[in-house]
Amino acid sequence: MTSTDTPTTTPSDLATTSEIAAGVAQFLSPVVRDLEALVVNGKQAHWHVRGGSFVGVHELLDDVVDHAQEFADTAAERIVALGLPVDARLETVAEKSTLPTLPDGFQTWQATATAMVGLIDAALVTVRAAVTGLDDIDLSSQDVAIEIERGLTKDRWFLQAHVAV
Ligand SMILES: [Fe+2]
Repeated sequence: MTSTDTPTTTPSDLATTSEIAAGVAQFLSPVVRDLEALVVNGKQAHWHVRGGSFVGVHELLDDVVDHAQEFADTAAERIVALGLPVDARLETVAEKSTLPTLPDGFQTWQATATAMVGLIDAALVTVRAAVTGLDDIDLSSQDVAIEIERGLTKDRWFLQAHVAV
């Protein structure tokens, strides 16, 4: 590499990098928190489902939980890779998650599938806002959100198919 090929970093580049990281954190942090809420409530639903389709819904919910945890990990590590922290502490997730409240106690498999579709729908609103918002901020981070949107939508389909007519 000659001296004329040497990359240079200007103060404005650094500011831009910082602004990109902040924008990514703004859109992916809510995604992380909603997905962590989906993990906790997905297990709650997994433990309390009852009725004729118990096995199918019980086992499917473990897949939903596993996927949500993987998605949350990918989104959180994208934020951290850009140099910013992510706040997905228990208290913060409880305060800021957009997911509706899951009914307490034992539930029929129909009620469980319907409630979990509702939780995923709420998370998808957050994920799709990230897909849109990251379009002109950082395409690699948008790709993370797109991958999550695709996976969550597939899990929603698998659950919805239990109660669809
Ligand atoms: Fe289990």
